[in-house]
Amino acid sequence: MIPIILISLLGLLPVVWLFSKRTRLENEPPLDKGYIPWLGHALEFGRDAAKFLTRMKQKHGDIFTVRVAGRYVTVLLDPNSYDAVLSDTTTLDRTRISQMLLQRIFDVRLPSYEAEAQRRCMERYFQGPSLSQLCSSMYHNLQFLLATDTTPGSVEWKQSGLFNFCYSMLFRAGYLSMFGTENNNKAELSAVYEEFRKFDRLLGKLARSTLTKEEKKVAVSARERLWGLLSSALQSEAPEFQSWRKRYLHLLEQSGAGPETQTRAMLMQLWLTQGNAGPASFWLLAFLLTHPEAMKAVREELRELQRPPVDAAQKHTPVFDSVLKETLRMTSAAFVTREVLQNKTLRLSGGREVLLRQGDRLCLFPFLSPQMDPQIHPEPEKFKFDRFLTTDGKEKTEFYKDGRRMKYYSMPWGAGANACVGRHFAVTAIKQFVFMVLTHLDLELSDPNATIPPVNPSRYGFGVIQPDRDLEVQYRLRKLPRNWSSPAYTL
Ligand SMILES: *[C@@H]1O[C@H](CO)[C@@H](O)[C@H](O)[C@H]1NC(C)=O
Ligand SMILES: *[C@@H]1O[C@H](CO)[C@@H](O)[C@H](O)[C@H]1NC(C)=O
Ligand SMILES: *[C@@H]1O[C@H](CO)[C@@H](O)[C@H](O)[C@H]1NC(C)=O
Repeated sequence: MIPIILISLLGLLPVVWLFSKRTRLENEPPLDKGYIPWLGHALEFGRDAAKFLTRMKQKHGDIFTVRVAGRYVTVLLDPNSYDAVLSDTTTLDRTRISQMLLQRIFDVRLPSYEAEAQRRCMERYFQGPSLSQLCSSMYHNLQFLLATDTTPGSVEWKQSGLFNFCYSMLFRAGYLSMFGTENNNKAELSAVYEEFRKFDRLLGKLARSTLTKEEKKVAVSARERLWGLLSSALQSEAPEFQSWRKRYLHLLEQSGAGPETQTRAMLMQLWLTQGNAGPASFWLLAFLLTHPEAMKAVREELRELQRPPVDAAQKHTPVFDSVLKETLRMTSAAFVTREVLQNKTLRLSGGREVLLRQGDRLCLFPFLSPQMDPQIHPEPEKFKFDRFLTTDGKEKTEFYKDGRRMKYYSMPWGAGANACVGRHFAVTAIKQFVFMVLTHLDLELSDPNATIPPVNPSRYGFGVIQPDRDLEVQYRLRKLPRNWSSPAYTL
């Protein structure tokens, strides 16, 4: 037995040697291969990317190259140099990586030029009059769901996990607004949500291809159920305000995608548009519930409002906006990843030039910097609701590092060609939801001493992070919900 193992290990040696012979050349970033052949830092990276990259930053500075599962990834953590990466769309390609991810996660293959056309299609939909219509539909769906989920006149407290409460409300309302049809019933809506959560829980592992056999079964079956639910929902005619569906499906058809690919692309759109608002609202309410001074400030601002926040253009909520920005600063953690198509010299903000090697990947992680960078945001791990407010209560946009004013001081929606197309819709939906909760419900922590749950560290890299466990709350309908036409109202 032992000789066999020995022989097979010896057989592996040339392979190991092949993958470990890379050395750092002049003008290349510091190289950190890790001790495990081939895998390098893959395990630590997958377990908790934020912790791992923080450690690497302390060791090597703002730019370094690590080995992750046979690949070399150069990580850049200097926000003042991000534009040099974002502006180069020819040598630094983003389509291949996103196609690979779409295939792994959604089992869908879309030609890259189509992806751009689809993006433009969605962009058009998420602005102007169609955005207003969408937001108004979202508002009514939220009100409708609140009414169906609670019993009028009941003074009983309901217990719930806050994460599930927020995610389920925003997901179902968003689904109704963007994908819903007249035939939607409550059971089907809950089924879509339940399957979506099963799928979403395993998303990080799907993307990294690290599912166990059991998990794979769960993920694949949830995905298939979702395809089934979506395709039957999509068979009926889209209402006027869902014009995107017709245009989007038309684009797919033009590129030769059959009904199966169309359904899969729809699941991708469902995740892209509904996967972050719920988790973000959870963190926002969790921060408010554990920071009374923040809750007080938001309630005071809400009391002054003359009408409910229905549309995206409403801008008179600087306190709430600051709370939302602070929440996203601490919880939005997507990677911006590029593939280096040709050897390239990257000029960093300080004037230093580094060489990037063809075939490597380049990764920005705005969560670590600017968002959690103590030089830009003092005490970055603390929730400060007024961090994005000036002393006279306006939006604060001036932040500095080493005396330089930052162009990017928080990047929850990405930037450049990566920027999230649905961001205005997401902001409005979160605002509508939080204001609805605060005006219609009494909401409190089940355990007044409860603290914010820790994050699930395996979610770094995929948009808004999620908690490791839920936060128990109780809620009931307020006796006197706000009458928006009456000026005399106390929250
Ligand atoms: C890219 O750079 C690497 C390392 O310097 C070098 O070995 C390789 O030949 C270069 N490739 C091209 C196409 O120039
Ligand atoms: C909350 O903490 C305080 C102080 O530590 C303690 O006196 C109180 O009993 C706790 N309340 C609950 C419900 O655990
Ligand atoms: C809301 O307030 C307005 C103005 O005070 C009043 O006319 C209206 O009847 C109220 N509506 C409800 C439902 O109480």
